[in-house]
Amino acid sequence: MLRSHTCGELRVSNVGQIVTISGWVQGVRDKGALLWIDLRDRYGITQITIETENADKDIVDCVRSLGREFVISVTGKVAERYSKSDKIPTGDIEISPVKIEVLNTAITPPFTIEDDTDGGDDIRMKYRYLDLRRNTVRKNLELRHRMAIETRNYLDKLNFLEVETPVLIKSTPEGARDFVVPSRMNPGEFYALPQSPQTFKQLLMIGGFDRYYQIVKCFRDEDLRADRQPEFTQIDCEMAFVEQEDILNTFEGLVRHLFKSVKGIDIPTLTRMTYADAMKFYGNDKPDIRFEMKFTELKSNFLDLVGGKGFPVFDNAPLVVGICAKGAAEYTRKQLDELTEYVKRPQIGASGLVYARYNTDGTIKSSVDKFYNEEELKKWVITFNAQPGDLILVLAGEENKTRKALSELRLEMGNRLGLRDKNKFACHWVVDFPLLEFNEELNRWHAMHHPFTSPKPEDMALIDSNPGSVRANAYDMVINGVEVGGGSIRIFNKQLQARMFDLLGFTKEEAQAQFGFLMNAFEFGAPPHGGLALGFDRLCSLFGGSESIRDFIAFPKNNSGRDVMIDSPSQIAQAQLDELAIKVELQTTK
Ligand code: AMO
Repeated sequence: MLRSHTCGELRVSNVGQIVTISGWVQGVRDKGALLWIDLRDRYGITQITIETENADKDIVDCVRSLGREFVISVTGKVAERYSKSDKIPTGDIEISPVKIEVLNTAITPPFTIEDDTDGGDDIRMKYRYLDLRRNTVRKNLELRHRMAIETRNYLDKLNFLEVETPVLIKSTPEGARDFVVPSRMNPGEFYALPQSPQTFKQLLMIGGFDRYYQIVKCFRDEDLRADRQPEFTQIDCEMAFVEQEDILNTFEGLVRHLFKSVKGIDIPTLTRMTYADAMKFYGNDKPDIRFEMKFTELKSNFLDLVGGKGFPVFDNAPLVVGICAKGAAEYTRKQLDELTEYVKRPQIGASGLVYARYNTDGTIKSSVDKFYNEEELKKWVITFNAQPGDLILVLAGEENKTRKALSELRLEMGNRLGLRDKNKFACHWVVDFPLLEFNEELNRWHAMHHPFTSPKPEDMALIDSNPGSVRANAYDMVINGVEVGGGSIRIFNKQLQARMFDLLGFTKEEAQAQFGFLMNAFEFGAPPHGGLALGFDRLCSLFGGSESIRDFIAFPKNNSGRDVMIDSPSQIAQAQLDELAIKVELQTTK
């Protein structure tokens, strides 16, 4: 046995016992008469104390030769400490060694393995195995493990079966590019890695499995962000003989169970918001509702409270819309200039920002006083339901662009006013997504969720005359402004599915070639079904209070999609390329 106990386990009740612990040397302190080793493993840190006068010379020499991250095994007697530490759970005891064995040496790590490390992102990723020794990273992966276990517990109790689906599949159009894998046995042909197991889970429903789930890797070749990785994990689920209501209730139950069992938090029943309202009041299909600050319109298709006063920006804009920031009327000129600069950044794209301060003395001062007198501005105050001390911020311009920009400003104000506390959770559903969205570039309709999503039966009559107005039985789960999951009730009828492909611009032949297997299966008694997938990495990062999902993935990729530790992607040997019948003409710069 290389250990009888872990480094996090020993307490005063163990005093007097002879134990063996093993781990990594966190540090050695040498005070001449006394030597201390902090020995660390996954479970904690235990102090080893050596009185140099009384200890065996070999032990003293050994300890003095130890470096950081050496792997050692220590056998000794547990003793109560004179000066106890309340910083660590083992702080009441120490070990007086009778034997120390060096199991392996270590060269100096490139960064300190402490909670507050001196290592930057790149170096930590290159030596991720060292980064994994740090408490913070380990705790994140422990949280991920707990979330997976609790997910399985919850779904197992509800009769869901975990079924594995293949990883070498055929391309499915779900918005992103596929990663492809060449087939040696079929030269010139490629598998695709699944963007999700969507079609397979539907086939499982046709196969009679009725409740499926899988904690599964998905692959998407898309631009990366803090909440996106090229390979990520979904809690992928599907149910047969259900309606939207059943799915919402079942998975709301899962998320509430996770909050309760993992974080000890009771979250209320999830509220629901239509897509139309989300866009109207928050300019965003995943609004952060930890704080209110809803959009208020001053000018739209239906009203105009600001036109005809000689202010061309408002006169020429189809939409004038704003938010009311509570208690921010005292913002300085500098702060307001900063906000103006913020909305004018190319990523946000507004042409400017109009503000009106509703001062605590009841006066109103705006950046457009030249055009709007106090009487006029009073109307704004009433429309925004502003209170003395509030700041009204207004954007104007083309409808979609302006809503998008105001959504960013709202989130920025939420941050500045401290309204986005990561320990507070606001979970809700966004429902009634449009079935289709128009892709201007390609000049054709695109499935907003995916092509297997069922239109709302009550909107079916509009499918030919006004396809853009047809709503889908599709829903997203949103937590703190993050799209944590999404799903839909599926089409399970061959004719309707064929009609859908037709709307999306597929010819009959293309639809048959790509999805004939699914449409044919619909003819063999497909049950009504629907489901959703939760982004597991996103869920873990929300639970862990981090914006980056990389912190919750053991071996993540960087923003260029590289694994800098194993140096991948990489070139392959010519012989391998020849075997795969692949000719590479691109000169790579690497
Ligand atoms: P969707 O494409 O909405 O639906 O994906 C479901 C959830 O997966 C997460 N997600 C990601 N997480 C990390 N990195 C990524 N690149 C990434 N892309 C998506 C999000 C998202 O909400 N088959 C359907 C589900 C269904 O209809 O049942 C699907 O994949 O949290």
